[in-house]
Amino acid sequence: MTLFSVNINKVALIRNSRGANYPDLLKTARDCENFGAQGITVHPRPDQRHVKYDDIPALKEVVTTEFNIEGYPSEAFLSLVIANKPHQCTLVPDLPDALTSDDGWDTIQHQDFLKKTVQRLHDHGIRVSLFIDPIEDRLYAAKELGADRIEFYTGPYADQYHQDRDTAIAPFAKAAKYANSIDLGINAGHDLNLDNLKFFKANIPNLLEVSIGHAVFCDALYLGLKNTIQLYLRELE
Ligand code: PXP
Repeated sequence: MTLFSVNINKVALIRNSRGANYPDLLKTARDCENFGAQGITVHPRPDQRHVKYDDIPALKEVVTTEFNIEGYPSEAFLSLVIANKPHQCTLVPDLPDALTSDDGWDTIQHQDFLKKTVQRLHDHGIRVSLFIDPIEDRLYAAKELGADRIEFYTGPYADQYHQDRDTAIAPFAKAAKYANSIDLGINAGHDLNLDNLKFFKANIPNLLEVSIGHAVFCDALYLGLKNTIQLYLRELE
């Protein structure tokens, strides 16, 4: 089974554009779960233009499915995560001013830093996933430094999907086989949508989780949130 985690950052972005608590992020999280989402993901960025640090304790109270906090492991981010103990923390190597995450970790170059960070999160009972490109040496290093899972950065897959989906999926399918062989759990996210999700799922054995934000809320504008979530769940059946 592949768990569907909805990234609710976009809802916070709309809320923040007006200053009042509308749309209500906590209601959105509850509704996503009631409509069938099996997890809620947030990505508090340093400029807090999306989900703010202050949102996290209230979300932790409300979320009843899997709570995943992703972000760059600055001291402020790690303190926030440790104080709120989500089920999973996904570490992402994004720069403070990144528009969105657009690269995976070089787990070889940053091995020492990541190892210490993973250990610190493990000490607090938090599962750790590393955002990563489908490169075997980096997967091996991720396993060696203690990561429980990796999250494939699927932006390049989504970019190429409409030109040649077999070529687009090939490096991910190969890396997924390798990850399975070394017992490294597989998540995936970025630019997944109703066009490309089913094919990704079909070609990635033991895909544990996808986190999807942008496309879910774009689709929800036309289809409604309940219908949209159920359509995504159907792609993952
Ligand atoms: N995974 C990570 C690490 C991300 O930074 C994001 C975007 O916040 C996503 C997944 C979800 O990407 P999208 O919004 O394109 O679905």
